[in-house]
Amino acid sequence: MTMVKITPTDNGPYLIEGPARVVDADGNDYDLTDQTTIFLCRCGGSGTKPFCDGSSRSEGSGGYAAVHGP
Ligand code: FES
Repeated sequence: MTMVKITPTDNGPYLIEGPARVVDADGNDYDLTDQTTIFLCRCGGSGTKPFCDGSSRSEGSGGYAAVHGP
């Protein structure tokens, strides 16, 4: 069994390392087993939820610029 590592970045998104399946609040299912690095929004400001789109960075939190998701 593969262990997934979840790291809450400093004032930024959750960094998910390892193959994962993500289900958003609306029940949409994202099979991300081919991706080894995913950033999930933690600030609520992303336009591509549940993934970070870098909006956190523009809010001065020092977040991340790249979109990481499907
Ligand atoms: S953490 Fe929300 S947009 Fe990056």
